[in-house]
Amino acid sequence: MQQKERISFGSKLGAVLAAAGSAVGLGNIWRFPYEAGNHGGAAFIIVYLGCIFILGLPIMVAEFTIGRGSKASTGEAFKVLAPHPIWKWVGYIGVLTGFLILGYYSVVAGWTLEYTFQALTGGFAGKTSAEFITLFQEFSKDPLRPLLWLVVFLLLTHFVVVKGVEKGIERSSKLLMPLLFILIVLLAICSLTLPGANKGVEFLLKPDFSKVTPDVFLGAMGQAFFSLSLGMGCLSTYASYFGKETRLVHTAASVGLIDTFVAVLAGLVIFPAAFSVGIQPDAGPALIFITLPNVFQQAFSAVPILATVCSVLFYVLLALAALTSTISLHEVSTAFLHEKFHFTRVKAARLITAGSLLIGIVSSLALGDWSEYTIAGMNLFDALDFLTAKIMLPFGGLFAAIFVGWVIDRNLVKNEVTNYGTLKAPFYPLYIFVLRFVAPIGITLIFINELGLLG
Ligand code: PFF
Repeated sequence: MQQKERISFGSKLGAVLAAAGSAVGLGNIWRFPYEAGNHGGAAFIIVYLGCIFILGLPIMVAEFTIGRGSKASTGEAFKVLAPHPIWKWVGYIGVLTGFLILGYYSVVAGWTLEYTFQALTGGFAGKTSAEFITLFQEFSKDPLRPLLWLVVFLLLTHFVVVKGVEKGIERSSKLLMPLLFILIVLLAICSLTLPGANKGVEFLLKPDFSKVTPDVFLGAMGQAFFSLSLGMGCLSTYASYFGKETRLVHTAASVGLIDTFVAVLAGLVIFPAAFSVGIQPDAGPALIFITLPNVFQQAFSAVPILATVCSVLFYVLLALAALTSTISLHEVSTAFLHEKFHFTRVKAARLITAGSLLIGIVSSLALGDWSEYTIAGMNLFDALDFLTAKIMLPFGGLFAAIFVGWVIDRNLVKNEVTNYGTLKAPFYPLYIFVLRFVAPIGITLIFINELGLLG
């Protein structure tokens, strides 16, 4: 047991912003639009919202309970709270999941730096839609350039993590989150005023239920876990730094709302833009990288400086959102090595940075020179994304729900939700019911459905 006074976030707002900083990232702005685009738009979004509210929020409170209740990083938290040694493996697998995500996520984060650079140096000027597609393909297949940006991004993450919880993570989140909000609202307004934008709004808001296949459920569930940073102990690690006055339910609701709001806003930026310039919404991971620069270019062809300003703003915003998420992914593994093996934080962080660089290199090459190596028809980048987001995170969430719903001490669960009896918790019985039955059965059914075993 850790009896030392644990480092913590400086304030309740700091805790909310750090958790929201983790949740809001490439998942909202890069992954959500292309998953929605691949799965038919509005119908996917409805299933996604269902997953956020029915599974995501209760599991987030459960992860907060595990973190603050144990005051330990995820690797150790399960051990602290439950005597049976099997549970610690949920924590360890969570750490592994986060480490794998950090690797390929940083590759895309690196792309945002390249695009910021291109935007700044006039690389988008005068290009046509077709040229933007070529630009992205040539860049992402290049064996070296994306790796360079990957290294830069990982080093940025490394330095914030080494600075520690309050100075590094909290301070940067406090500054970056509000900035991000303002920028994305401005961009949505820009995009919605483009000619033909209404087709994109329709795609986003008018559901076609004939498109709802088992893949839509798995995709939406995976996206919900990915976007909320759930299922790998990230938010439980952050919650271990929450002060005792932080309200868990309130914090989860704020994070869920902010995260969903940013994803929907990102949809309002990307889809009107994509339809306006005739790019298909199912362009996959390339979607925002071929749509947006094109849009800015076309929308502001009469005032090129505005095109430059908008593109720079967008990619800077994306890089910043990615950074607050990579920080949290990195923190999970760093805190684990620090607490489990008693490495100094600097040494732990160095090991994680080096390891994720290796995974990043493999993921990046998988989109170019190594694209012939596939697993179940997917290149290694896509396979890693599939394995982590659609399998490992939902499994992690499933076990977190069972752990808090069935295994740990009832008093601890109630005390955490009510801040030791100082808060009312009218939803408590419903919360426990969801953790015990709804979440485990729902997640299992979505897996079974995907395997084609239902109906
Ligand atoms: N939630 C982040 C995003 O949407 O970009 C990604 C992420 C961060 C996933 C932290 C998981 C995690 F633990």
